[in-house]
Amino acid sequence: MSDNVFHAAPSVVIAYQSGFGHTAVLAEAVAAGARATGAVVTPIRLGDLTDDDWQTLDAADAIIFGTATYMGNVSAGFQMFAEQTGRRCQQGTWGDKVAAGFTNSGSKSGDKLNSLVSLAIFAAQHHMHWVNLGLGPGWNHSAASESDLNRLGFWLGAAAATDVDANPDEVHPSDVATCEHLGRRVAEVTQQLVAGRAAAQAITEAVTAGA
Ligand SMILES: Cc1cc2nc3c(=O)[nH]c(=O)nc-3n(C[C@H](O)[C@H](O)[C@H](O)COP(=O)(O)O)c2cc1C
Repeated sequence: MSDNVFHAAPSVVIAYQSGFGHTAVLAEAVAAGARATGAVVTPIRLGDLTDDDWQTLDAADAIIFGTATYMGNVSAGFQMFAEQTGRRCQQGTWGDKVAAGFTNSGSKSGDKLNSLVSLAIFAAQHHMHWVNLGLGPGWNHSAASESDLNRLGFWLGAAAATDVDANPDEVHPSDVATCEHLGRRVAEVTQQLVAGRAAAQAITEAVTAGA
């Protein structure tokens, strides 16, 4: 059994939409967290995707979806991307990849849970494995503060709030750290899944050879 079976670096793509640059800052944080685990990370800002972008998405072990919340849901830009994946959805091209999501809105709530739900349903339609945030809620008791990780208290994915008149470099540090956490967690789960599949395959081959 090759050493590489257990040490292959997973490929993680971050497919995100950002109209004014806030969600883009969070995408960079997700990327940094994933890279810290040794994963091969490719951020793709949604818009006019090239053939290379689609190939990178198709080859990924994990895709982390990100979108600004507009009108209480994923942005039109994100939804356009989602609808462009219809054929891949029918053909199962992304089936059994790992998925996760993050979003950003102006208000502390801003109905952005709805965006995370939309991202999770999109992943489910592709038969992907959704990874949750994996953090308890922060900033929810008297000794807590808005500097806590997961300060807005989400479970399904990472959620951030950025004042609508803030510059991108003013995205809240806690939200940046929460997104780094998500990237790290998804990369680690993907590494476990990739190694587990390789090990299962190797065991099956060894058993078959010995039979
Ligand atoms: C068309 C539009 C709709 C929006 N709808 C919401 C909303 O439903 N809830 C909210 O809290 N913020 C809403 N916002 C604010 C954005 O979510 C916020 O400015 C966010 O930081 C934008 O992220 P971006 O810079 O990545 O585009 C909306 C902004 C726009 C332009």
